[in-house]
Order: sequence, then C-alpha cells, then structure tokens
Amino acid sequence: MIENINAYLIKDEPYYQPTGGEVDLFMAAYRLRMPMILKGPTGCGKTRFMEYIAWKLQKPLITLACNEDMTASDLVGRFLLDADGTVWHDGPLTLAARYGAICYLDEVVEARQDTTVIIHPLTDDRRILPLDKRGELIHAHPDFQLVVSYNPGYQSVTKDLKQSTKQRFGALDFHYPDAAVESNIVCHESGVGDDIAAKLVGIASCSRGLRGRGLEEGISTRMLIHAGALIRDGISPHAACGLAMTRPITDDVDIQRALDGFVTAYFGP
Ligand SMILES: Nc1ncnc2c1ncn2[C@@H]1O[C@H](COP(=O)(O)OP(=O)(O)OP(=O)(O)O)[C@@H](O)[C@H]1O
Ligand SMILES: [Mg+2]
Repeated sequence: MIENINAYLIKDEPYYQPTGGEVDLFMAAYRLRMPMILKGPTGCGKTRFMEYIAWKLQKPLITLACNEDMTASDLVGRFLLDADGTVWHDGPLTLAARYGAICYLDEVVEARQDTTVIIHPLTDDRRILPLDKRGELIHAHPDFQLVVSYNPGYQSVTKDLKQSTKQRFGALDFHYPDAAVESNIVCHESGVGDDIAAKLVGIASCSRGLRGRGLEEGISTRMLIHAGALIRDGISPHAACGLAMTRPITDDVDIQRALDGFVTAYFGP
C-alpha cells in the first residue's frame, strides 16, 4: 500500500501564479498541520494552488469531490467482496491519514452533515480516525493534513458547514487574480498572445460586474483559458467566446446579449 500512496505524488512543478501571500500563509498552516478551508468562486485556481502546494511539500495529494449522496464509507472505506472473501479497502481519507498525504475534499458543503462529522476527531488535537466497521483506530500520520474547498454563495443555509466543523479550520479566500496576472495565466495556459489574453480578461471583468445582477457568478479564469485555446486553434474570437464563455454561463437571452456586447466592445463587431 505504501507504494500506492506514491502514485499520488505530483512529479512536475505545476504552473501556479501566486495572487497574494497565500503560498506563505498556507505553508505556515501546514507546519502546524492546521486543517484548511479554501474558499472562492469556481475556476479561480483553488485546485491548481493545492497541486502546487503538494508538489512544493513533496506530499501525496488525494482529492475527493463531495456530493450529497456520499456516505461516511466513501470517505473512510468499506469491506468489499472478492475471491478471498471480504477485504477491507481504505477510503481516500483513511489512506491520507494512514500514510501522511494531504486529503483535499472538493465542494465539501455538498456532503451531508452526518458525513462531515467523521472528520471532527481528525481535525482537532486528537488527530484520530475511528474505523468502526473494522474495529481500528487510526492515529493520523504526522504529515497528514486535511484541506476542504467550497464556493461561498452558491449553497443554501441548509448546505452550510456546521459551526463545529468550521471552527476546526483555518481559511484562505481566493479571488480572480488582478488583470495583469490573469492575462499571464491565460497566455501560459492557452497559448494566445498578450493582446488577446488582455481582451479576454477585460470581457471577464465586465461580466463579473453582473454578478448578483443576472449572473450567479462572473466568467472564470478557467473559461478564459478555454476561449483562448479555441482562438489559438483558429476559431474566431466571437465564436470562441460564445462557445466557451457566454453560452455556458447563462440561459438568459438578455444576459447573453449583454455579454455579447462586451465581446464586441473588445474584439470589434
Ligand atoms: N493562480 C493561478 N496560477 C495558474 N493557473 C491558474 C491560476 N488560477 C487559475 N488558473 C488556471 O485556471 C484553471 C482553473 O482553476 P482551478 O481548476 O484551480 O479552479 P478551482 O478554483 O479549483 O475551481 P472549482 O471550484 O470549480 O473546482 C486551472 O486549470 C489553471 O489553468
Ligand atoms: Mg477545483
């Protein structure tokens, strides 16, 4: 199993542009093995940040996307039937706690609260994980850290984390980067030149002004990279922005028209 955990190591340095003091702050939190919450809108770089940190620390990174059908067994593991009878399989959380990985639970508010309480004894000074079904108590490996992410604003009150969960964590807020940094990211990731990247970032910044006024969320860095890659491939800017940015983000025809207006303002009619 020790060999398996190495499969979760990130070999090459992930491209990550810091947007503030987040790298130093996270490293300080890791030194204390403080559980961390990464908050921020979709496509703003939380997952990329985590990959970069795991690479910098040379620790395996085990990621799990949470959903409301998830049970505690999906986190800690279960007995499965095979040719030799029933065999225990560690879940992602158990694997990380046992062998000292960083466990990254994406969209943690999607999980039901009775599932999230599993992490309580792991995220206070006890750092233990009881595997009731197996009759085993795991003392987390000294390198183990739990990190969770969520997009504040999307979930209803019923889908918030309990205070008793929140208060076990430190948190970092993520935002879309400044225009110059975001342009660099779009150039690097999609291969378009500075000029086109700057225009895409300009359109995104206009769209972010519509947040809460017709758009649930503005156009993300991820969408700009998609559009840039299409343009790089020879698709016209208007078609690329339609396909990768303005059509996926809303079904409201008026808002789409407003977004198309931003595209025309930057790329011409
Ligand atoms: N600071 C950054 N440095 C380098 N690349 C970035 C940065 N921010 C965003 N990106 C790029 O944007 C893409 C989307 O970011 P990422 O997948 O990390 O978003 P996320 O915040 O995890 O979104 P979600 O909440 O939807 O999971 C990345 O694949 C990467 O190409
Ligand atoms: Mg992510």
